Amino acid sequence: MPLVRLDKFICDQGLGGRKEVRQIIKAGRVRLNGVTASAPDMKFDPESALVELDGSVLGYAKFRYYMMDKPTGVLTATRDGRQKTVLDLVTPEMRRMGLFPVGRLDKDTSGLLLLTNDGNFAHRVISPKSEVEKLYYAKVDGSPDADDCLAFERGIVLADGTRCLPAKLELLGASDCIVRVMEGKYHQVKRMLAARGKPVLELRRLAVGGLELDPALGPGGFRELTNEDLCRVFMGR
Ligand code: URA
Repeated sequence: MPLVRLDKFICDQGLGGRKEVRQIIKAGRVRLNGVTASAPDMKFDPESALVELDGSVLGYAKFRYYMMDKPTGVLTATRDGRQKTVLDLVTPEMRRMGLFPVGRLDKDTSGLLLLTNDGNFAHRVISPKSEVEKLYYAKVDGSPDADDCLAFERGIVLADGTRCLPAKLELLGASDCIVRVMEGKYHQVKRMLAARGKPVLELRRLAVGGLELDPALGPGGFRELTNEDLCRVFMGR
């Protein structure tokens, strides 16, 4: 593994900006292989070195994974010249990790959005081949019925002729339902329901695979995923 600088290694773990981390090292709070680190630019092999901050061992967590309860009114993007994006809602430490959203929720859609800096993970979650189900709550104009459920099972044909993979529609109240899809075409759920003459009024993603949105987060809230959460993403519900 290539050598890394001590200050970069600590920054990459979201423990502070370069300036802050240099001060931490200068204050003698970091030990490298059991010896108090003397300079921020010390280089070492992160696979074999032991790095401690205030006596706690730091691991090389290269990839990071978060869930956010995306509020409506915010773009699913890393940055935008004019509008607020989901990355504007996280901490400066998280922005430095190079996080990006896994897939996309529309500006007026809320709910579970995963953020990571792991491209392979993102690809596996998004690809229909992985069969990771995305579950949405939708409030619609109209009353979905059993015929709509059947049409979803057979594969909805969108207004432009695109055929969707088989999906599931579960009826809740008169005008709300649960939609489960494996793919993520542009405005997919809205276009599927519109194709059945039931335009979406409100859309919220509640789960990705077996991972449910943490109800404790609230709009704009986020937290790091545990190892168990990560496994759940690829488990069925
Ligand atoms: N389908 C949509 O139409 N919009 C979303 O934001 C997500 C899925």
